[in-house]
Amino acid sequence: MSAIVFLLAASTSGKERRQGVPVDRAAQATRTLQDGVFSDAQATRGEALYKQRCAGCHGADLAGGAQAPPLEGAAFRFKWRQEPLSALFIKIRYTMPPDAPPNAADAAKLDAEQGADLVAHVLKSNRFPAGKSDFAAADAATSSITWPPAPTAGEAAPNVAARYPPTGTVNQLMRSIFFHNANLIFSVQEVDPKELPGMPASDKPGGITIFDQGLMTYTGWLAVENAATALADASTLLMQPGLRCQNGRPAPITEPDWIRFTDRTLAGARRMYRLAQMRNSEAISEFTLELSNSCNACHQVYRNDGGRGRGANAGAGAGARCVHR
Ligand code: HEC
Ligand code: HEC
Repeated sequence: MSAIVFLLAASTSGKERRQGVPVDRAAQATRTLQDGVFSDAQATRGEALYKQRCAGCHGADLAGGAQAPPLEGAAFRFKWRQEPLSALFIKIRYTMPPDAPPNAADAAKLDAEQGADLVAHVLKSNRFPAGKSDFAAADAATSSITWPPAPTAGEAAPNVAARYPPTGTVNQLMRSIFFHNANLIFSVQEVDPKELPGMPASDKPGGITIFDQGLMTYTGWLAVENAATALADASTLLMQPGLRCQNGRPAPITEPDWIRFTDRTLAGARRMYRLAQMRNSEAISEFTLELSNSCNACHQVYRNDGGRGRGANAGAGAGARCVHR
């Protein structure tokens, strides 16, 4: 219980909490990538490792391939400029190469030094200047080094939509927003939204977790409305320039079928929203099949790996994902 009180308090009294923070990081003199934040020797080590561990997918010249996105160029820089350099380090060190066999020895994973060396190679390939010392592995994940504030001269500014590149892949969107919000709407077939569980009693054995609270604060019909608007607005993210599938392919956002399937899910979600506003469980139950078919229509053409739903079915067959059947 105390944890939840804290959560509520934290969101309403940010002031007090900020008082406790001793150093304003933004006010510290921050170095940018123009200041030579890695050494040539480090980039050379990174290059050798890159050839062994990365080039097979991302290409010898970092230009990307059928299996992985480019690691240099204006779009790459634009995306990573949104976050401190530590984000690129974290992405490489903790998630690359992907799909390491489940029981892979630790040797198959990168250590901090290797991650930092690879960052140096990627930065050098993106024509940032080398300096005297290495990009330090020890604090790479918390480093305050940033990208330069503006694109370098001569680099075309992306169009407005592309200024907000998505953080996750299509798969992450599906898992984080589509899946459980659709399921919540589908549950109206079985449960009257009025009966959706509210906050458990505070003496519930084991206590109320913040997870319980998150699920149960906006409950009842409001939960159905929220699920419908989440689905509708997340559908438009399927059209976002820069969006990629888990296998690294750009989402086919200009293909007529992709657009058609997205429109169909969007229309279905909007219709669900209106039906929820009317508190019409019966109509929602009847319309469930259309919403579910709208998901499947796209999956049959673009997901195309025979996999159903949950789990890490990113192995065999995943390479065909996001390619029109
Ligand atoms: C089996 C193929 C494969 C290998 C090997 C691989 N990657 Fe990747 N990489 C991918 C795919 C697919 C993505 C896109 C999905 C994602 O972001 O996780 C990706 C994404 C990335 C990204 C983010 C790119 C962006 O613009 O969002 C970076 C950085 C990266 N890889 C670096 C590396 C480095 C460094 C290595 C070597 C240690 C490596 N990768 C090895 C397949 C691979
Ligand atoms: C415009 C196409 C499109 C629409 C519409 C769509 N999906 Fe997907 N979905 C995909 C693609 C493509 C993948 C595989 C993503 C990847 O590999 O990055 C996927 C994957 C998934 C996954 C699997 C995640 C995993 O773990 O493998 C789930 C669950 C999912 N979608 C749910 C839904 C639901 C629910 C809806 C409808 C409310 C929906 N999707 C609508 C294209 C779509």
